[in-house]
Amino acid sequence: SVGNTDSRGGLIVLEGLDRCGKTSQSGKLLSYLEGLGHSAELWRFPDRTTSVGQMISAYLLNQSQLDDHTIHLLFSANRWEKRSMMETKLKAGTTLIVDRYSYSGVAFSSAKGVDVEWCKAPEIGLLAPDVVLFLDIPPEKAAERGGYGGERYEHLEFQKKVAQCYQILRDSSWKIIDGCRGIEEVEKELRDIVVDHVLACKKGKPLSLLWS
Ligand code: TMP
Repeated sequence: SVGNTDSRGGLIVLEGLDRCGKTSQSGKLLSYLEGLGHSAELWRFPDRTTSVGQMISAYLLNQSQLDDHTIHLLFSANRWEKRSMMETKLKAGTTLIVDRYSYSGVAFSSAKGVDVEWCKAPEIGLLAPDVVLFLDIPPEKAAERGGYGGERYEHLEFQKKVAQCYQILRDSSWKIIDGCRGIEEVEKELRDIVVDHVLACKKGKPLSLLWS
């Protein structure tokens, strides 16, 4: 049978405020999918390993100053430089669990006052996620969790603005997950959603592009 030559991996994105739990949940999802025998990889943005990523990292660590538009375009460029590899992996059947994506790009920059449509423009043409798992947690609660590492955006007042900006980006690909619950409870909910989407992609759901 040639029935599964079109089968591809899923593009699964986790989003949310700093300290919402998405990094630990991403790792757990990866182990779960691998345990089920799926090919999967964990990705994250910003990818600080590239030269663009190093400029972003220096900015986040307050080691450099950049105009708000400039850093926005660097975050976007950091996704564009990974786009073809992302497409290759997905088409080869590997599911990608991605910790932050274009929604972080738009939410964090627009929280600084940059126009939302301007923020979205450089993201047009990137691969659209099959599902966005938004770990919903009040900014105050995230701040209580501690471990704000002192990077540029890790302040309660700013995170409150980011939370509002995320709201306007919600679309039909989003699943809002109550991130205030225990880690296992959240994990259980995520597992079922992710498996459904991975299977749909395997069965031939086509890839689409942002913003759609
Ligand atoms: P991280 O803590 O997940 O590595 O993300 C670093 C910070 O960068 C985090 O505060 C969110 C922010 N960010 C943007 O401002 N724009 C983006 O496009 C991305 C991916 C992250």
